[in-house]
Amino acid sequence: MSNITFTMIKPDGVANGYIGKILDQITSAGYKIVAMKYLHLTAKTAGEFYAVHNGRPFYNDLVSFMSSGPIVAAVLEKENAVADYRVLIGATDPTKADVGTIRNLYAKSIDANAVHGSDSDENAAIEASFFFSSLERF
Ligand code: CMP
Repeated sequence: MSNITFTMIKPDGVANGYIGKILDQITSAGYKIVAMKYLHLTAKTAGEFYAVHNGRPFYNDLVSFMSSGPIVAAVLEKENAVADYRVLIGATDPTKADVGTIRNLYAKSIDANAVHGSDSDENAAIEASFFFSSLERF
């Protein structure tokens, strides 16, 4: 069990004005933000980040959407970070997300689903390192 997870507020969450509300929900749930940046991914970088999904039917739309506008990337620290964060954000498909979860409150579709959250401790470490050097983590 690791104590970090990686998240992005996706282009829809940013464009719809939910950065503040989502960060408030994250910190209210007990997470410490140990790294954060606001950036616009290129299609190349989005494709590299989501390379694990290359070949799946939704990959091209995912890459296109994730490079369509700015995102917020962050590393979050808390005991049992990965599992608890997946509960906090809710199901990938917002129509299946529990009431009160971030995706239930702020997401519109499975593509525009407001936030990303790591699915394992191993991927949390990989994803955090993809975006942040050791000098950018506190
Ligand atoms: P995320 O947690 O960022 O990981 C991959 C993303 O692909 C996922 O959120 C969804 O936004 C998107 N996606 C689109 N269709 C699917 C699907 N059928 N299964 C999983 N993810 C999908």
